[in-house]
Amino acid sequence: GAPVEVDISNLQPGEKLTVEWRGKPVWIVRRTPEQLASLKAIEPQLVDPNSVRDQYPTPSYAKNPARAIKPEFFVAIGVCTHLGCSPGDKFKVGPQPSLPDDWQGGFLCPCHGSTFDLAGRVFKNKPAPDNLEVPPHMYLSDTRLLIG
Ligand code: FES
Repeated sequence: GAPVEVDISNLQPGEKLTVEWRGKPVWIVRRTPEQLASLKAIEPQLVDPNSVRDQYPTPSYAKNPARAIKPEFFVAIGVCTHLGCSPGDKFKVGPQPSLPDDWQGGFLCPCHGSTFDLAGRVFKNKPAPDNLEVPPHMYLSDTRLLIG
């Protein structure tokens, strides 16, 4: 499929934009500073906090703590790595047992309960084996992103 150009100039901190690329939903999530700061504390609960597994290889430019070219903007394919459902937004926002008090939310798959943090990293206790896939992408300017 052809690459998809996305205007991100109206995306506000904490919001998510969904576009379609190759028939799949691609999310662009603009993370707040609080959301970015929360990523480190949950790493012990994750299957692959550093995205080293290669089932869905993370592009080299996103192999970093925020899994992103620009930490503020997270780009991922919104398809669960278990059996392909599309996870919903913001599961368990706010303090939760076993999660840090400053838990800033994540994504919950409705099919079998896999959960992902705000960098699309999968938690250990549910069936999805891998982090959400980061599609190939690049910035054409500060406000235009090219997916694919
Ligand atoms: Fe997402 Fe099974 S498809 S948990």
